[in-house]
Amino acid sequence: MQINQHAKLSIAPMMDWTDRHCRMVHRQLTHQSLLYTEMVTSAALVRGGALHLLAFSPDEHPVALQLGGSDPKELAQAAMLGQTAGYREINLNVGCPSDRVQSGCFGAVLMENPGLVADCVSAMREAVDIPVTVKCRIGVDDQNPDEVLPEFLARIVAAGCERVSIHARKAWLQGLSPKENRDIPPLDYPLVLRMKEYFPNLHISINGGITSLEQAVGFLEAGLDGVMIGRAAYHTPTDVLGAVDPVIFGTGKVVTGEEAVHAMLPYIEAHVTGGGRLAQITRHMLGLFANRPGARVWRRMLSEGAHLPNAGPALVLDALAQVRHHQELAQQSG
Ligand SMILES: Cc1cc2nc3c(=O)[nH]c(=O)nc-3n(C[C@H](O)[C@H](O)[C@H](O)COP(=O)(O)O)c2cc1C
Repeated sequence: MQINQHAKLSIAPMMDWTDRHCRMVHRQLTHQSLLYTEMVTSAALVRGGALHLLAFSPDEHPVALQLGGSDPKELAQAAMLGQTAGYREINLNVGCPSDRVQSGCFGAVLMENPGLVADCVSAMREAVDIPVTVKCRIGVDDQNPDEVLPEFLARIVAAGCERVSIHARKAWLQGLSPKENRDIPPLDYPLVLRMKEYFPNLHISINGGITSLEQAVGFLEAGLDGVMIGRAAYHTPTDVLGAVDPVIFGTGKVVTGEEAVHAMLPYIEAHVTGGGRLAQITRHMLGLFANRPGARVWRRMLSEGAHLPNAGPALVLDALAQVRHHQELAQQSG
């Protein structure tokens, strides 16, 4: 399957969340969706030599590396490092509003400088053979999205951007925290749908506030090429991702939370045997039974026990047994 087809449903890049362990959890629930790394800055890779940030398992594929930066040469070098590390796509972050990122002049503030983004895209395109894509907002501050977004997209497409994910709200660069910037600026889905009319040949994924598979299907039926889901995929992974393969990709079967846990056990075993801590993985598994019987005991047992010395797969199996017990009780009473 081409990577653009995998992008029909993707899981958004999220700093501190979509690390390699998290991606492995998500991969047990969907074999087809495109996964993204957390943002890695080109400076960390090229100037800081932090190549450990690129480490991942081929079992996570297909995975795209998201880069943050605004220096075309440096981004080109970072993209090459990403390609060599085995990533299937390089994505440029033009959506992140945090102060730290603004001071480095990248992220959402780049919406004001489409020429520079185009230079970054074309430099990366020349450096790598894998697709170069962009994740952006609909605009920033007092920009008029109806005017700036088509102009922005035209520039990056001309520079060789092969796909775009649009977080369907503005970023307000002054006065809002990054978290508020994910909730307060209003969503404008119709604007993103209009972009598909203006750019029928561009693969466009919509992002922002999508909380269910039904909603994702609705956007695909409305003509968009892809749907990118962030927080809902993280907090309620089984609800959002467990049926993605059959429903969105027409392949595979529905995966339950319990099946995902079992599929994680060899990975967990290898991680703790190698000296890693259980909690580094299980913190991304807390939502596997969200909205289901046993959700609370599952979260509690893992939250309380996984950071203790020697915690390993046995704790996960104990917690799973408790979940099953709660499920049985719920069945009996219901
Ligand atoms: C904890 C967290 C970290 C994020 N980090 C990034 C990031 O590194 N790069 C990026 O492009 N967007 C980042 N985002 C934004 C998400 O990719 C996504 O655009 C946003 O959460 C809206 O989608 P959602 O409503 O489906 O969560 C982050 C979001 C969250 C919640």
